[in-house]
Amino acid sequence: MAADALFRPFTHKSLTLKNRIVMAPMTRSFSPGGVPTPDVAAYYRRRAEGDVGLILSEGTVVKRPSAKNDPNVPDFHGEQALAGWKRVIDEVHAAGGKMGPQLWHVGSARNPMTTWVAPPPVDAPSGLSSPGKKFTEPMTDEAIADTIAAFGQAAADAKRLGFDVIEIHGAHGYLIDQFFWSGTNVRTDVYGGATIAERARFGAEVVKSIRAAVGKDMAIILRLSQWKQQDFAVKLAQTPKEMESWLTPLVEAGTDILHCSQRRFWEPEFEGSELNFAGWAKKLTGKPTITVGSVGLSGEFTAAFRGESSKPASLDNLLRRLEREEFDLVAVGRALLSDAQWARKVREDRHDELQDFHKEALAKLA
Ligand SMILES: Cc1cc2nc3c(=O)[nH]c(=O)nc-3n(C[C@H](O)[C@H](O)[C@H](O)COP(=O)(O)O)c2cc1C
Repeated sequence: MAADALFRPFTHKSLTLKNRIVMAPMTRSFSPGGVPTPDVAAYYRRRAEGDVGLILSEGTVVKRPSAKNDPNVPDFHGEQALAGWKRVIDEVHAAGGKMGPQLWHVGSARNPMTTWVAPPPVDAPSGLSSPGKKFTEPMTDEAIADTIAAFGQAAADAKRLGFDVIEIHGAHGYLIDQFFWSGTNVRTDVYGGATIAERARFGAEVVKSIRAAVGKDMAIILRLSQWKQQDFAVKLAQTPKEMESWLTPLVEAGTDILHCSQRRFWEPEFEGSELNFAGWAKKLTGKPTITVGSVGLSGEFTAAFRGESSKPASLDNLLRRLEREEFDLVAVGRALLSDAQWARKVREDRHDELQDFHKEALAKLA
């Protein structure tokens, strides 16, 4: 099937993209001391040169003592780190690309790849790392207010440096998602509650803080997932109605584009419909959405960390859904991590040149 649908322009507010391909945010841990190096800038520049429509950075953390769980994850605060990011966005723009930082706070999610421990306090809504597992004390009101302000400050800095869009990491069992999930949020104040709508409050306040910082024209993307790294089977929303009550306050707070993370984009979200998460999110909110998960590859990404390789796979199912406008944009992770030219090869029908994904690709910035 011709890939034309992937190569139509997209516009939303001040964001104009030449095509529908988004580089998915991927933690690379090549920023010693939290400072992105010139190699990091060159890595993103190569994706811009390779025709990626929108680049989302690896998760980069806001200014809280324990916002990251790996010392080589980049900061999005402090003079040196921000100078590193300025170089990144300037190089991406010089190559004709568009980019947004993915603003992140890991909450109580630890990193099994490192023994490094961030300075206290660890931020977690109820001090839990997974259901029933106490890790630290619940966040104080002061810590919550400071964290919300830190997201706003990072977004203001991103705008000042010249980034085109902001992405908020609200997925995968990290801090914002720990507030959404009843398994990790058992608070009895305004940030907790029995319903997903009540537990969406912290996320909505983060979005509002960012909206206040960047003004009305800059697009804000919010990344969400039903699944958690702590438990792939979790569904925050069991029904479309519940999903609507989760997404509505987040959209009302100022989210423009919903980035709906699945491990396999073709999996239906609810029984009785083929629509995936991005399909439902668009239908329920009317907002543009991004799909993601094993695009162009045979295996899914968490298996990649266990060493599993993947082979190039057909894009036909994806293209049919994009043609039907089930979603607007398509994020691609591992295929773009190992091959900066992936988008160009797809555009030029050079399918026999698409590469396998091997875990060795994780060890370098190619
Ligand atoms: C090495 C690696 C690092 C990742 N880091 C992040 C991250 O920082 N933030 C995030 O939201 N998702 C992260 N992800 C998930 C990807 O954004 C994406 O959703 C996932 O890889 C599925 O897309 P794919 O099947 O095309 O690889 C990461 C994935 C990989 C492979």
